[in-house]
Amino acid sequence: MSKLIRFGVSLEDDLLERFDHLIKEKNYTNRSEAFRDLIRQELVQKQWHSSGEVAGAITLIYDHHKRELVNKLTNIQHDFGRIIISSQHTHLDHDNCLEIIAVKGNPGEVQKLANNLKSVKGVKHGTLSMSSTGKDI
Ligand code: NI
Repeated sequence: MSKLIRFGVSLEDDLLERFDHLIKEKNYTNRSEAFRDLIRQELVQKQWHSSGEVAGAITLIYDHHKRELVNKLTNIQHDFGRIIISSQHTHLDHDNCLEIIAVKGNPGEVQKLANNLKSVKGVKHGTLSMSSTGKDI
C-alpha cells in the first residue's frame, strides 16, 4: 500500500476556477481525486509511447452480411492471438454486430491490430480504448 503524501499546489485563480468547474461536471468529490486521475491519465499516455505492456479494448461495428468481412476479421485476430485476451461478439440487430476485443501487450502491436481491424472494408466504426495493465500508474 502506498503512503499518502500531502503537498501544496499553486495555480492562477481563473485556472483553478475552470478546474473546479470541470471536476464538478465529471462528478469528482474533491480536487485530490481529480488531480490523481489527471496524473494517471498522463502516465497511461506515456505507457502507450513506451515499449512496455499496455491493456485496452478494441470495439468494432460491422455488417456481417458483407462478403469476406467476417473471415478477414477472424484471420487478423488469429495473427495477433498472442495479445488478445478475450473477445465478445454481440448481434445488435439483423445486420449489425458489435465486437469487443480485450487486448494486452506491446503498444505498437496493439495499435497495429486495431488499425488492421478498423481498416477492413465493411467495418462501419472502430475504436481503440487505450488503458493500462494497472502497473506503475
Ligand atoms: Ni453478429
